[in-house]
Amino acid sequence: MIRPVLRMGDPRLLVPAQPVEAYDTPELHALVADMRDTMAHLDGAGLAAPQIGVGLRVVIFGVHRNPRYPDAEEVPDTVLVNSRLTPLGEEIEEGWEGCLSVPGMRGLVPRYRRLRYEGFDAAGGRIDRTVEGFHARVVQHECDHLDGILYPMRIRDLANFGFTEVLFPGRPAMDE
Ligand code: NI
Repeated sequence: MIRPVLRMGDPRLLVPAQPVEAYDTPELHALVADMRDTMAHLDGAGLAAPQIGVGLRVVIFGVHRNPRYPDAEEVPDTVLVNSRLTPLGEEIEEGWEGCLSVPGMRGLVPRYRRLRYEGFDAAGGRIDRTVEGFHARVVQHECDHLDGILYPMRIRDLANFGFTEVLFPGRPAMDE
């Protein structure tokens, strides 16, 4: 079921989410199904449970080759529950981000270039990956939502924050 996405300004987006206590439950699978439907409907690259008003540590993400986004790097479809992120190295990269909770905007956000992420899928299967670049950026963006952080809070220079169609005229862009 497609659920409404909360937009920046809603206090629920600022509340840290709680760990999921049990895997492979009908409730967890239903939540993930709703998140998938919602993300697909809005053509997003990722979604965190708090964005649909559910305060649990669940994120989904995935990016596929799409003629609309010839430059996008592929990211496997992933459900990540109770995530733990460990940056690898000190290297920080700035990149443009958007968010389904901040529609129509883009900002230049610093993120760790490489990181390890661990957690579980909805069935309780272990996930342990070391990634870099865009994949690492998407994971950091989504997991920030679990701590009540929206990407504009991380922009170093607000001169690099604006409307997508003004910053990148004629170019479609994905939201996270
Ligand atoms: Ni977002």
